[in-house]
Amino acid sequence: MKRHLAVLACSLAVAVPAYAADEADAMALLEDSKCFKCHSVDKKKDGPAYKEVAAKYKGKPEAEAKLTKHVTQPSKVKIDGVEEDHGAVKIRSEARIKNLVQWILSR
Ligand code: HEC
Repeated sequence: MKRHLAVLACSLAVAVPAYAADEADAMALLEDSKCFKCHSVDKKKDGPAYKEVAAKYKGKPEAEAKLTKHVTQPSKVKIDGVEEDHGAVKIRSEARIKNLVQWILSR
C-alpha cells in the first residue's frame, strides 16, 4: 500500500508544472506585508520588478535559499542613496514563504 502511495505522489509531482505556485496566496502575502509599496510584478518601482528578480536568478541553484533569506530577514536597502528598511514578510509559515519565493522566481 505504501508503495502505491509513493508512486502516486511521484506522478502527481511530475504532473504539476513549475509555474503552479499559488498566485493568489503569494499576492495576498505581498499585500499584507506591504511589499507592493516598493515592488510590482513587472514594473520597476523603488525596488526591482519581480520579473527582473526572476530573470536575475534564472538558472541559479542558490536562488531559492537566497530569496527566502531576503524576504524573511529584515535588511537595509538604498533607495536614491537613502537607506531604508527593506522589511520582511509578516508570517512565519514556511509553506507560504516557499510558495511566495517560487512564485517570484517563476515570473
Ligand atoms: C522600502 C522599499 C521596499 C520594500 C517595502 C520592500 N522592498 Fe524588496 N527590494 C527593495 C529594493 C530597493 C531592492 C533592491 C536591493 C538590492 O538589489 O540591493 C529590493 C529587492 C528585493 C528582492 C530581490 C533581492 C535580490 O537578491 O535580488 C526581492 C525578492 C524582494 N525585494 C522582495 C520583497 C518582499 C517579499 C517584500 C515585502 C516583505 C519587499 N521586497 C519589500 C525595496 C523594498
